Amino acid sequence: MNLTRRRLLKTAAAAGATVVLGGCTSTAAETTRPVYAPSEPVRLGFIGLHGRGNDLLKSFRQVPLAQVSALCDVDPQVLATRMGEAKAHGESPMPFADPRRLFDSADIDAVVIATPNHLHAVLASWAAQAGKDVYVEKPVCHDVREGQLLLAVADRTRRIIQAGTQNRSDIGLRAAFAALHAGEFGAVSAVRGFCFRDRASIGRLPMPLVPPAGLDYNLWLGPAADEPIMRKQFHYDWHWVWNTGNGDIGNQGPHELDLACWALGDPGLPESVLGLGGRFAWDDAGETANAMAAWYLFPGGIPLSFEVRNLAPKDKAAGAYHGIAEAAIVVECADGELHAHRGGATFIDHAGKIARTFAGDAGATHQENFITAVRQRQSTLLHAPLAHAVPSADLAHLANASMRIGVPGDAQAALAAARGHRELGEHVERLLGILEGYQIDLAKTPMHIGPVLSIDRSTGLCTGAEAGRANALLQRQPRPGWEIVV
Ligand SMILES: NC(=O)c1ccc[n+]([C@@H]2O[C@H](COP(=O)([O-])OP(=O)(O)OC[C@H]3O[C@@H](n4cnc5c(N)ncnc54)[C@H](O)[C@@H]3O)[C@@H](O)[C@H]2O)c1
Repeated sequence: MNLTRRRLLKTAAAAGATVVLGGCTSTAAETTRPVYAPSEPVRLGFIGLHGRGNDLLKSFRQVPLAQVSALCDVDPQVLATRMGEAKAHGESPMPFADPRRLFDSADIDAVVIATPNHLHAVLASWAAQAGKDVYVEKPVCHDVREGQLLLAVADRTRRIIQAGTQNRSDIGLRAAFAALHAGEFGAVSAVRGFCFRDRASIGRLPMPLVPPAGLDYNLWLGPAADEPIMRKQFHYDWHWVWNTGNGDIGNQGPHELDLACWALGDPGLPESVLGLGGRFAWDDAGETANAMAAWYLFPGGIPLSFEVRNLAPKDKAAGAYHGIAEAAIVVECADGELHAHRGGATFIDHAGKIARTFAGDAGATHQENFITAVRQRQSTLLHAPLAHAVPSADLAHLANASMRIGVPGDAQAALAAARGHRELGEHVERLLGILEGYQIDLAKTPMHIGPVLSIDRSTGLCTGAEAGRANALLQRQPRPGWEIVV
């Protein structure tokens, strides 16, 4: 008998298979996974609808058989705006203020999560445990432990889970990395990542910020600690506070860290990590670094170095690396350099000539790729599976942990920490040049210079002398009720 998916779901419901997780009561989904009928839509629930969630709504609307069936946001004004827009599109989605109630709905097949970072792993886990397939934004976890738990949940529930690292679907990048991996540019000797994004101070309030009217602050906090918010803007600027965000290395950075992992053949977690940097020039409520460098070593021995910069360089040319002044990676190969970024890649030979161009599409089909995998019930079709997205998120968390437990130091100390790592030294020198342009006195406002952390590659946690302090940052205790239970 050819059972449809929905009939199987009903069968599971009738069998009374119920799981209760973190306040989310849901019917266990089918373990057998027949494909969708040819004209059967995938009924999508969108969670977090402000900036990125709105972009994703627009993208999924372009995908055949992707149906906007539910909208969820804890901010009633954001929810009302998106409900109005959906109506104008001829849609009639169910509105939800609480994602757990959306997970309970038998009329939703898959969810799209674009909440702040600290909610990604727990909501993705609960959705998967409720039988939903999941598209979850990057970074897919807010710390290393969350990523491990999410992987375990994904493994057990066997849901289709795509990460929002859309570069993996970029046609130009796919062609460029296929050529790289086929050895067309010669052996790879180093990978450098650049997260160059000019940003501004987020300000500081004299009194804690009052969240938007009607917003369910308990649900917004989720697993994060209940701390006063001293920044001026409620939405988006949570990126720059450790409680909810991961700084730019965990915001824009996961895109370039993910490209770097892709270039290296997705080696998983590194053996060792060093991070250094700080927040300079802005006197505000932000905590995360706006100038940072990181260095990673993987078993193959090819170094990955990474640079984060949010301060606009006073001297644009000096702030660039081989002409790169935006977010990108550079893969150093025997025959030249591959420059890869959102929207494509170029291969530049040793004479400085562009030898090959790979025009991309900024990952325009990434959402369609998810829907295809969902409809075919084939995780192997996904361009951005968790197996790739968790390590690339973890690279941000590990460098942040090293930096955060680091000791204060001046320019000489930063250069000394980079000694022996050619690429890291270059990044540090460029950062010091940027800070000089802002007349930062590192004796008064020092850098945080992290130790080299040794990583247990099976857990992502730190071993050795620094384990205690580093691991406290890599596995925070969630607020009660927000645990990920595998
Ligand atoms: N892939 C990309 O290129 C890309 C681009 C931008 C942002 N992002 C990612 O998307 C995520 C969202 O970014 P943003 O800029 O839209 O942030 P934002 O703060 O502007 O919006 C987040 C929304 O989530 C809602 N929300 C918070 N907690 C919720 C909960 N428990 N249930 C339901 N809704 C909840 C908020 O009310 C808000 O409307 C971030 O993790 C970011 O890293 C990815």
